[in-house]
Amino acid sequence: MGKNKKLNKPKLHNRMKGVVLAGGLGTRLRPLTLITNKHLLPVYNKPMILYPLETLKRSGITDIMVVTGREHAGHFMNFLGSGKEYGVKISYALQDTNNGGIADALRYAEDFSDNGPIAVILGDNIFEQNFRRDVASFKHGAKVFFKEMKDPTRFGVPVFDTSRKKIVTIEEKPKQPKSKFAQTGFYMYDQNVFSFIKTLAPSARGELEITDVNNIYLKKKKLSYGIIKGLWSDAGTFESLHTVSNEIAKRV
Ligand code: G1P
Repeated sequence: MGKNKKLNKPKLHNRMKGVVLAGGLGTRLRPLTLITNKHLLPVYNKPMILYPLETLKRSGITDIMVVTGREHAGHFMNFLGSGKEYGVKISYALQDTNNGGIADALRYAEDFSDNGPIAVILGDNIFEQNFRRDVASFKHGAKVFFKEMKDPTRFGVPVFDTSRKKIVTIEEKPKQPKSKFAQTGFYMYDQNVFSFIKTLAPSARGELEITDVNNIYLKKKKLSYGIIKGLWSDAGTFESLHTVSNEIAKRV
């Protein structure tokens, strides 16, 4: 009897799960992305996807879902398998459309999240630091991470109030950025993220924007932020792919 009681105890969410978003068409990297998915292209000496996987692992997250489109889905499975080789457990979700945007891709992780908090990382984002402390201390709401850049026009850019500490809003790819910070591709969310995504409308580029999700949390005063230390880059253009590969080569 005592034994059964123990077995029936409800599961506690003491471990955050992770989601790697690895879909999209990779149009900026054609013709390479006609052969395989952007996230399997080499960044110096490794396929791109291993960098976000390692970032999650170094942050204490080992239960991971990879969300991707159907075109090259088999390539991911052949390469990553169950994740055992990399010390993680991988599940896969296939998107019906691959041009719906980051927030649309995240929808596919709802069941996987099992009502718990999740860390989301974009498959083309390369971080030198890990998020171990942020993951361990996360309770609810959402947390985003910024990196100071010379020209953040290609990214989400936070607008700060006069104290320069509080965010007023985050603007997606502003022509005239109101700060020098770029929103990076690592986010932590509580389970409300999935209901917020359902309220989104497509942006001017026809996508469900992760920035809109973050602005919902911000309006509800549930958004916090951190600043990234060390190297950070995306690798979605020939220029950034080349630069970040060179930076990694210097560090290996
Ligand atoms: C996306 C986000 C943007 C963020 C960037 C980080 O941009 O929309 O806010 O700064 O990732 O890599 P995208 O890769 O869709 O251009």
